[in-house]
Amino acid sequence: MLLDERPKTSRADLYDRDEELNDILSNIDKPLIVVTGIRRIGKTSVINVALNEVGVPYVLIDCRSLRDNYGRSDLYRLISNALSSSLDKLIDILRRIRGGISIMGNAVEIRWRGGREQINLAELFDRLNERRIVIAFDEAQRLRGGPLSGEVLNALAHAYDFDRNITFILTGSEVGLLYDFIGVEDPNSPLFGRYFHEVRIDRFTRDESIDFLRRGFRELNIDVPMSIIEEIVNAFDGIPGWLVYAANAYIRGCWGSIHD
Ligand SMILES: Nc1ncnc2c1ncn2[C@@H]1O[C@H](COP(=O)(O)OP(=O)(O)O)[C@@H](O)[C@H]1O
Ligand SMILES: [Mg+2]
Repeated sequence: MLLDERPKTSRADLYDRDEELNDILSNIDKPLIVVTGIRRIGKTSVINVALNEVGVPYVLIDCRSLRDNYGRSDLYRLISNALSSSLDKLIDILRRIRGGISIMGNAVEIRWRGGREQINLAELFDRLNERRIVIAFDEAQRLRGGPLSGEVLNALAHAYDFDRNITFILTGSEVGLLYDFIGVEDPNSPLFGRYFHEVRIDRFTRDESIDFLRRGFRELNIDVPMSIIEEIVNAFDGIPGWLVYAANAYIRGCWGSIHD
């Protein structure tokens, strides 16, 4: 359904992003792909669909929930949760990682507290590298700042150089902050001078926005006057997330109050 308010996961529900998807899929052998675009433009949707089509195991780490100055337990919990979500595809790799990781039922736990069993991020990447894998950090600019950001960046740079089976995908709404974080132009950054492939997600054109809404409403068998579609398109200038939001507001009968 085009007008579903959650991030899309299948190409059939994603309007007009074939070019961006194919760009990602045909560059998936590169070590680093960066997907940029403003909030609600469809970055998460595009990487969800790409990851579902890529045909190799992946881990999707949603950095939105990281607090400022996140600590090690925050980061490891996030990665543990992401590994747990992909457990069915990763179970073979994870089982062979000795020490530092335990699997209990459907949950993966990364051990980071002292003792011999601990594992750091670079080691984790090295071990995931045993087989082809894609590791995506959604809203990766959230990794910036705080005591661990240097370690995260070092681990990414280490994996970029040595872990040939890993492809990283980073997305970011705040492009300046994201580029600041990876620092490919900053001689002091561990990722300095590394090549990455950028995929930019842009607004729909006016015609695309209109076509998108018409198809979306048609799928739901809802008849909507062209004047309403134009009102929505005029208000939201090609940003799919807001078009979907407004369409759903109309369906719920509250477009008028938002629009006024
Ligand atoms: N190309 C698209 N076709 C259909 N719906 C889309 C498209 N792009 C985004 N959306 C919808 O817009 C909303 C925001 O998308 P999302 O992927 O979360 O954007 P971002 O991650 O850039 O903030 C979601 O409801 C999603 O379903
Ligand atoms: Mg997103």
